[in-house]
Amino acid sequence: MRILFLAHSFNSLTQRLWDELCARGHALSLELDIADSVAEEAVELFRPDAIVAPFLKRAIPQSVWSRLPCLVVHPGIPGDRGPSALDWAIQEGAAQWGQWGVTVLQAEAEMDAGPIWAHAEFPMRLARKSSLYRREVTEAACIAVLAALERLAGGARPPPPACRGRARPLMTQADRAVDWERDDSATILARIHAADGFPGLADTLFGVPCRLFDAWPEDRLRGAPGALLARRETALCRATRDGALWIGHVRRDGDAGSGIKLPATVAFAAEAAALPEAPLPGWWTADHATWQDIRYEEAAGVGILHFEFYNGAMGTDQCRRLEAAFRWTATRPTRVIVLAGGEEFWSNGIHLNLIEAASESDSPADESWANINAMNDLAEAILRCESHLTVAALAGNAGAGGCFLARCADRVWLRQGVMLNPHYKNMGNLYGSEFWTYLLPPRVGAEGARRLMRQRLPLSARDAVALGFYDTCLAADHAQFGEEVRRQAAALAAAPDLAAQLAAKAARRAADEAVKPLTQWRAEELAEMRRNFYGFDPSYHYARHQFVHKTPQAWTPRHLARHRGRFSP
Ligand code: COA
Repeated sequence: MRILFLAHSFNSLTQRLWDELCARGHALSLELDIADSVAEEAVELFRPDAIVAPFLKRAIPQSVWSRLPCLVVHPGIPGDRGPSALDWAIQEGAAQWGQWGVTVLQAEAEMDAGPIWAHAEFPMRLARKSSLYRREVTEAACIAVLAALERLAGGARPPPPACRGRARPLMTQADRAVDWERDDSATILARIHAADGFPGLADTLFGVPCRLFDAWPEDRLRGAPGALLARRETALCRATRDGALWIGHVRRDGDAGSGIKLPATVAFAAEAAALPEAPLPGWWTADHATWQDIRYEEAAGVGILHFEFYNGAMGTDQCRRLEAAFRWTATRPTRVIVLAGGEEFWSNGIHLNLIEAASESDSPADESWANINAMNDLAEAILRCESHLTVAALAGNAGAGGCFLARCADRVWLRQGVMLNPHYKNMGNLYGSEFWTYLLPPRVGAEGARRLMRQRLPLSARDAVALGFYDTCLAADHAQFGEEVRRQAAALAAAPDLAAQLAAKAARRAADEAVKPLTQWRAEELAEMRRNFYGFDPSYHYARHQFVHKTPQAWTPRHLARHRGRFSP
């Protein structure tokens, strides 16, 4: 079929559906939902058989839905309607933790009220909205969209399913309100989870109005309900009626912090500095519920390093701490190191929000420079590790420098369903570093590397392995993936020829070093990056500003809007 995607942005769900439909041989093009006239023009140019709308914030115009079937993905069970579907499900779900789902409806005059072509359900989980969206909702949406398209092609709409859901209004901040003196930890946690990603939970910290994101339970620290108790790295701990919660990220209202979502101790730097520090004793996974962004566990000759950085963004300090943790991990009496990243993202490269925030006090160019150097130091530590075999295990998505940081490991294993964006150009023609010029061409060839960088398209886990960029695709289910990683890493650690494998790795590195030292690869990449950061062309700074401030796109990038020429669908 010829399918036009209409989407608010080319987000992870849209990318995943794009990949699934491409793999099935459909001819695809995409138009961002910029204006009714733009959507009408896209239909005129592309002449699709159907429209798929994975992620929209506005209604599809009648001029479009009256002409051709428009399948809208709604993150709710049949009968559920409204723009805050997941928010309500999470906020109210704690009481019933039943099933939730995704419905594919045909667009009509009334929002989310058209005929249902397919739906898929999943068990609800106590998690952030963005986590549910990237995992369960994405998997269910793939199942439902594929079923809907098959039915559409067959011309038979199924009988309407039983509707358990109902119409819900937009969730307001009044609906989300919390009272730290009266509410228990579970209630506040569910409410911050329901608001995560966007819009955040409106509250005040240190008397300053702000939005809260990224909450974690704490079961040891205690204090007067509502009091700020402690800080740890980038997070703040606040007491509730029956315990405490950690707040990882905050967006201050008004001008301070330029309205950017930032680590809590950065958004409130002076205030946080006055709080007592609550350090953990080391990198080992804490034996109780608390906030810990870098944690280590060990079994069967394998050390596993988890790094749960919000949104996969890795600032200068996070890179430095992760490098320290990695170097310590390499001193352990183990044989394999697994770099497990976070549950939602493995890494999305340098921290664009922290860099943008540097405009307030410092220079974003300097902070970009510091960040990429810290990232490269980490990458180099992994590349130069001779004591252990290293495995990057990607349970979550990765983008830009994060994709090449993973490739620094000896093996890269991914969860099936992971989406990658192994390119930099979308960020204002950024050249990129993390040793991509050293790591990529030997895997995919010089032309393959050029194509990946130029096309700027997402790459599925399956395709990354088929290309030879990464090594192995494991289970799609998160828990199963974790088990397979542990099992296969333990087998690697127990391999009788492990010493030979380590020797071969050291010999390869030495041979590569003799041809061209890592320092030279790094210097050449950084010379380009220096131009991006400090040169006359401000494209990177402009693109970063737009990305961080979520400025709506004014046009659809040509590599996606294939109906507008250059790329044929
Ligand atoms: N720095 C700071 N924040 C980042 C980030 C980064 N490098 N990468 C992603 N994020 C944030 C987004 O702003 C978004 O924030 P939100 O919680 O306020 O919505 C969140 O992570 C999720 O990103 P989103 O773009 O919605 O996720 P996606 O899965 O749809 O897309 C990417 C993933 C990687 C394609 C996209 O986030 C991206 O292009 N990131 C920038 C990568 C980059 O250029 N890094 C710098 C060069 S190394």
